[in-house]
Amino acid sequence: AVHVREKLGNGKLYVVSNREPYMHVKQCSTVECVVPPSGLVTALEPVLQACDGTWIAHGSGSEDAAFVDEHDHLRVPPDDPRYTLRRVWLSEEEVSGHYEGFSNEGLWPLCHMAHTRPIFRVQDWEYYQQVNAKFAEVLVEEMRDTEHPVVFIQDYHFALLPRMVKNLRPDARVAIFWHIPWPNAEAFSICPWQAELLDGLLGADVIGFHIQSHCNNFLDTVDRTLEARTDWEQFSILRGGHTSLVKPFPISVAWDEHMTEQAENVHHGSLNGAGLKKDAEDSWNRLPDSDERLHSDLHRELGIEGKHLLVGVDRMDYTKGIVERLLAVEYLLDEHPWYLEKIVFAQIAAPSRTRVPSYIALKAQVEETVERINRKFEKSGWKPVILIERQCSHKEVTRYYKAADICLVTSLHDGMNLVSKEFLAARSDGDGVLILSRFAGAAQELRDALTVNPYDVRQVAEAIRTGLEMSPGERRLRIDRMRQQIKEHNVYRWAAMVLTDVCAVRIEGEVLADP
Ligand code: F6P
Repeated sequence: AVHVREKLGNGKLYVVSNREPYMHVKQCSTVECVVPPSGLVTALEPVLQACDGTWIAHGSGSEDAAFVDEHDHLRVPPDDPRYTLRRVWLSEEEVSGHYEGFSNEGLWPLCHMAHTRPIFRVQDWEYYQQVNAKFAEVLVEEMRDTEHPVVFIQDYHFALLPRMVKNLRPDARVAIFWHIPWPNAEAFSICPWQAELLDGLLGADVIGFHIQSHCNNFLDTVDRTLEARTDWEQFSILRGGHTSLVKPFPISVAWDEHMTEQAENVHHGSLNGAGLKKDAEDSWNRLPDSDERLHSDLHRELGIEGKHLLVGVDRMDYTKGIVERLLAVEYLLDEHPWYLEKIVFAQIAAPSRTRVPSYIALKAQVEETVERINRKFEKSGWKPVILIERQCSHKEVTRYYKAADICLVTSLHDGMNLVSKEFLAARSDGDGVLILSRFAGAAQELRDALTVNPYDVRQVAEAIRTGLEMSPGERRLRIDRMRQQIKEHNVYRWAAMVLTDVCAVRIEGEVLADP
């Protein structure tokens, strides 16, 4: 966290995203403050808390003029204010065209290889431009008294914003981070406005993706679409006299030292070479009786005492592979009836983009699949699947992570996937198994997960079996290494790396301070 502040020096940080970190939801006469289920929020919130600044986002709770007035500029978090939240209010039509339409029916399926057909409507595109321009206006208004502001734009909702900001404030240093994959050039070319989107992005000084292959795809897309000079050695693009750096910055979660205390009391010493081997041998012999883990408070609450708990935590989104995961659980029980009445799979599915038709269809499909599987196998009060279709607080989700034998992350395609990292961060007991899709960016870093092709139901079922039968020593060895990775590559480091690159950008005409 200190590094992030240092990187900024005297510069003031402006973050822009569509999703706001706190939603004020009006319930009859009271206003409730809710944290949305968003990887982006999970990642950025600790960064903003560490270095103050202003976060500009779409205000989702706009109801009436009085509400808007009161909730326009707020210091947040509400119980311990550390930074400013500036809300941008959008009309129903703007939300429908910009967020639901162009962003989530167009760009989302375009960038994710999940075989859902993107829809590009002319009107949605018009709203997309309009909303980008509206955010540019608010941003410029917010930055009016700041010289050389640092602007950090988030995600596919704002591909046009970097160019707009640079045109209005050439002295600003601008970075954009694309939180989802970037597809190959041919796939991207079906977007009727690909040139405009690319040109908009190239207004940024730094363009970040999670992994190198997304950067390669981006450079290739630019190469084939625009008049620009791409440099495949420096990973930079020169267009109209301005250079954009294109780089991978794998996002992560905050690492809270308190969470690790317990694990580190057990595991000390090096995690490399001989140290690692020794730790593994030691931990083999001092594991708690595995039966203890099957009797947590959560097990009691769910009425599943003595059963092995598998968990999935996602937004209800077709890219997350929830249906495929359910089919893998079904396959496991069909092929290995030994597990009947011994395992329970709890899927938390936070409602998401609930007015978009493909999401409505997925919800129905997930519910039907759960019902069918439960009907097929239920026995003396036991059902194999628990579906929790609501937004759970971070605290609640952490209880699931901690009580689980296995966490299943089987995205069909995912930029990074922070659930995998949150699960690891939560396992201060140094135990648990992570099953991870090879199509999630996180698979590049978390080499000790059981990696699967989520489309291969048999392989996922086999991975569940391997996880359930894995020796305690191997479980600890794998999770230790992955926790170490997250500890070192946490979200503060991610933010510090992006900010280092953007702060190093030379701005024409800027008078540099004496060293
Ligand atoms: O993964 C992409 C992403 O935009 C995240 O950045 C965000 O956390 C998530 O999707 C949630 O989406 P939404 O804001 O539409 O609920």
